[in-house]
Parts: sequence; C-alpha cells; structure tokens
Amino acid sequence: MKAIVYEKYGSPDLLELREVKRPEPRPHEVLIKVLAAAVNKADWHLLRGEPLPIRLMAGLFKPKHKIPGADVAGIVERVGSKITHFRPGDEVFGDLSGSGFGSFAEYVSTDEKCLAKKPSKLSYEESAALPMAAVTALQGLLDQGRVEEGQEVLINGASGGVGSYAIQLAKAYGAHVTAVSSTAKVEIAYQLGADEVIDYKLHDFIKDSKQYDLIFDVVGNRSPKEIERVLKPGGTYVSCAFSLGALLLGPWKYLTERKKMINLLASTNPASLQRISKLVEEEKLRPVIDKSFTLDDVPEALRIIGRGQAAGKLVIAV
Ligand SMILES: NC(=O)c1ccc[n+]([C@@H]2O[C@H](COP(=O)([O-])OP(=O)(O)OC[C@H]3O[C@@H](n4cnc5c(N)ncnc54)[C@H](OP(=O)(O)O)[C@@H]3O)[C@@H](O)[C@H]2O)c1
Repeated sequence: MKAIVYEKYGSPDLLELREVKRPEPRPHEVLIKVLAAAVNKADWHLLRGEPLPIRLMAGLFKPKHKIPGADVAGIVERVGSKITHFRPGDEVFGDLSGSGFGSFAEYVSTDEKCLAKKPSKLSYEESAALPMAAVTALQGLLDQGRVEEGQEVLINGASGGVGSYAIQLAKAYGAHVTAVSSTAKVEIAYQLGADEVIDYKLHDFIKDSKQYDLIFDVVGNRSPKEIERVLKPGGTYVSCAFSLGALLLGPWKYLTERKKMINLLASTNPASLQRISKLVEEEKLRPVIDKSFTLDDVPEALRIIGRGQAAGKLVIAV
C-alpha cells in the first residue's frame, strides 16, 4: 500500500510517499481502508518533534510511529477476533492519536476505541475533517467550559481547525460569540456564526473593558494575568495550548474570585465522536474544509498548518 513515511524529526521535506506492507489487524484492532484523512497542528508538532516534551511520548531521538496522521474516515476492511462493535463494510471516522497514528496511508489498523460510525449525511472528506478538532472544541466549550445560553464567550484563534468548530458550538448553545482572528479570516468567522469579530492585527481584546463568562483559547499567546482582566468574576478560561501560568495561578484565582483557569487535554473516544455525529445530524455543526489534498501533497498541507494559515481544516483525499 502507499503511505507517507518519516524516519526522523524535521521539516515536511523529510516526508516520503512510499510503498509499504499493508498492516494486519491484531485481535482488538480494525483494519480500515482509508478514504480520507485530515491534518492537525498535532501532526506538525510530531513531524518537528517540538516542543521537546512531545518526544517523551513520540520517541526521544526519532519518531516511534513512522506513518503520521490522526484524523481518518474510511471503510472497515477486516476486524480482529475480539472486535464486536464493527464489521467489514462499516463506514467509520475517528482520531488515531491514541493508537499509533497512521492515517496518511491507504490502510491503517487501529484500536476500535478510536472510532465511531461515520455521520451518514457527510462525505468521507467532511467526516475526516471533524474528529480531533471538533472533539477538542466540544470538550473545551461544553465539558470544561460548560457554555450556557446568553453567556458572553470569546474564542481566541477562532478561524483555524479547532476555532471554527468552537464558534459553531458556542452559537448552537446560545452564547453571544466574539471571535478573535486575523484580517483575512474575519469574514469566515462571521459566516461561521460569530456575533462580533475582533481583528487581532488591528485591535487587542485585552485592552477592552468588556469581560467574558467564558474564554476559549487555542492560541495561548496571552498571559493568565492578561486573560483574567477580561474574565468576569465566576468566569472560566479554557486553554488548548498548555499554560503553566494558568496551572499555577488557577487555584488562587478560583479561591479569591471564583475564576476557573483550565488547561485542556482533549481525548477522543467513541462517545465524543457520537456526540459530534449527533450535532452534525441536528445541523448544529458542519465541517469546515479549507482545501483538499492528495497523499502526495501531505508535505504541502503540513507546511500550511505549520504556518498557521489554514482557514478551517485541510483534508487529504486518499
Ligand atoms: N489541548 C488539546 O487537547 C489540543 C487539541 C487539539 C489542538 N490543540 C492545540 O490547539 C492549537 C490550535 O489548533 P488548530 O488545529 O486550531 O490549529 P490551526 O488550524 O493552525 O489554528 C490556529 C489559529 O490560530 C490563529 N492565530 C494565530 N495567531 C493568533 C493570534 N495572535 N491571535 C488570534 N488568533 C491567532 C490562526 O488564525 P489567523 O490566520 O487568523 O492568525 C489559526 O487559524 C494548536 O496549538 C494545537 O496543538 C490542543
């Protein structure tokens, strides 16, 4: 089968499209014929081996998993002897980051706990655009942020992969949404449902007097002290980008002003994927695809992700 392979950390130039052996499913695994994949910032970090702590999980000196790619959509080809939830022919989607990655390939064998049935009304490419980014937005806004109707919500980094789903979810739950994005993506943020958009190249939301009930941050470029200035008493800050300051300052701010500061580590599981499917069925969430690539183009897609230039998701049609 054809797969994108990398042997050492570095630039997208190190990625090669190669002929490799098709995997065999182990007893608790499902072999998927991949029809689409999508690119995430996590793929960029794993390609670079940066930030360095990522190597504790991904391999100290060279990547442990040679075929990258987390988001996937495809058809079950075969199942291992212990699989009960899936059978050949099932249409599935999922996030393989908890099971060795490998979606930038024609086939991948993966643990069933990474998968769910694909939303029936979506194409494979649309389905692949959802798992990691949409589940992160779901767990950040709904599970940790507990977004509620009528709340003032600010999304920092609103028109990338995670942010474009966060805008939609906050709106679906009745919040008044302020999106922070660059000039080029202001219109996209409005189209996704934002009530107000702050162009960060022209205006700094930290300097405003407005305060928010919930701030969902996918950029992590502001200090907790700056953030808490624009967080209402009793408000919640959820960060996707690990913030040591939020970790240290959080307990004190909660004790004194009931302000919560939370570092999110999202984890995809079948239940989260099914919630995403249901939101799609209810038309509260739709995939946001910036551009579609082929397997040969994975290096170029990763360059775009690395530069932070995607508006929504970049998908790979396999
Ligand atoms: N903790 C977790 O479990 C978890 C899970 C998934 C992702 N993440 C992390 O979340 C981050 C975002 O992921 P993603 O997939 O959404 O990446 P992405 O698609 O690259 O989106 C990031 C967005 O941030 C915006 N941005 C850059 N500088 C900004 C600034 N100064 N102010 C406001 N917005 C700015 C960019 O938009 P502009 O073009 O408008 O600048 C870009 O669209 C990554 O660091 C990723 O590693 C964490």
